[in-house]
Amino acid sequence: MPWESFGRTVQSAIYRAGAFGHRPEVPTDGTQLEEAARKVMSRRGFAYVAGSAGSEVSAAANVAAFDRWQVVPRMLVDTTERDTAVELFGRRHESPFLLAPVGVLSMAHEDADLAVAHAAREQSVTQIISTQASVPMEDIARTLAGSGHWYQLYWSSNDDLVESLVSRAEACGSDALVVTLDTACLGWRPRDLDLGHLPFARGEGIAQYTSDPVFRRLVAERVAAGSPEPRPRPTPAAVATLLSMSRNHPGDLRRNLTAPEPRAAVETFLDVFSRPSLTWDDLPRLRALTRLPIVLKGILHPDDARRAVEAGVDGIYVSNHGGRQVDRSFAALEALPGVVEAVRSSGSSMPVIFDSGIRCGADAFVALALGATAVGIGRPHVYGLALAGAEGVSEVLRNLRAELDLQLALTGCTSLVDLTPERLVRVG
Ligand code: FNR
Repeated sequence: MPWESFGRTVQSAIYRAGAFGHRPEVPTDGTQLEEAARKVMSRRGFAYVAGSAGSEVSAAANVAAFDRWQVVPRMLVDTTERDTAVELFGRRHESPFLLAPVGVLSMAHEDADLAVAHAAREQSVTQIISTQASVPMEDIARTLAGSGHWYQLYWSSNDDLVESLVSRAEACGSDALVVTLDTACLGWRPRDLDLGHLPFARGEGIAQYTSDPVFRRLVAERVAAGSPEPRPRPTPAAVATLLSMSRNHPGDLRRNLTAPEPRAAVETFLDVFSRPSLTWDDLPRLRALTRLPIVLKGILHPDDARRAVEAGVDGIYVSNHGGRQVDRSFAALEALPGVVEAVRSSGSSMPVIFDSGIRCGADAFVALALGATAVGIGRPHVYGLALAGAEGVSEVLRNLRAELDLQLALTGCTSLVDLTPERLVRVG
């Protein structure tokens, strides 16, 4: 398929199928997509994905921020041939989309991260594998079969574990290491709190840990020291949790049901998950651990961006975690121009990745015009996953790629280089 016709080809295929009575199973509109996913997901699953911090106004602000920018189309430009490719850390990407790291995908679909990997490969979009994934990174990398991925690190309080996760990421072929800085602890999330539901406490989303030799050693030591965890009363809820922990733990289910390791693994995870004491002074240690490009995720202030450049990192990722961490946070898009200005005026050409609030191709257009090098797709791909597994994720990505391509064609742009702030006006 010639690249220049990508958007039209996708659009025509949808209309052609429609002529024979087939409507897309995965809605092309972001709001409809979320609503369709809500209908097929469990209450807990949807709350975990759609929910955000406190009053949830940060998440709403992320989306609303795009309405303050409008696109100014230019006419009589030959846009027959369009190119949405971008190069990141030595690899050519067909489009500026990345799959943002999202944990506990098993809450959306049983094929979880492997389904996302199939779609990532099909759509030539780089998957950022989460430290809270439902599947060990090596299995995801195998499914990706060399098509490129990055690894997202939550910096554990245990140094040996950090070292082990980083060396596994290198060994399984990650192109970059994304260090998420905004999760010194989990945000206050009323939807999950009101359901009393934390997936990790049920053994979900800790596959990177239970597959890790250092973590397994910590669990073994905990078990050998005699389990300090009190045995809960065998209520139906407690039995369901034990079953969930045992299913999610490696090894034989029947053995896991009576063994101490699944519960000890959950407790160990809760102990080592994050390192609230992390500061800029810790970065040189990470630099010494790996030759992979380091990207700092969660940067929102120009001074932090300047500091990151000085610290010698290789990329910056502007994000407020989809509004899941800080309540009443300003929109990530509001932070983007200041961070880009700080990075570029420091003389750095490093990539500035953006996520939080992108729901359509035009949103990507705006973020790229404001200086983002590439954009992460978070919740929309999870909704596609919930609706139709790998094909659902593929459809979400295909639609975004097609929409961005058509947006270029209709605004007189032939490549991402054309996307500059002059393409936009700010209203309000
Ligand atoms: C996330 N995000 C996230 N980020 C990260 O660095 N590691 C992680 O494990 C997760 N897990 C996670 C789970 C769920 C359910 C969501 C919705 C998000 C944040 C993610 O990478 C991204 O920053 C946001 O999803 C962007 O916001 P929108 O566009 O999805 O609203």
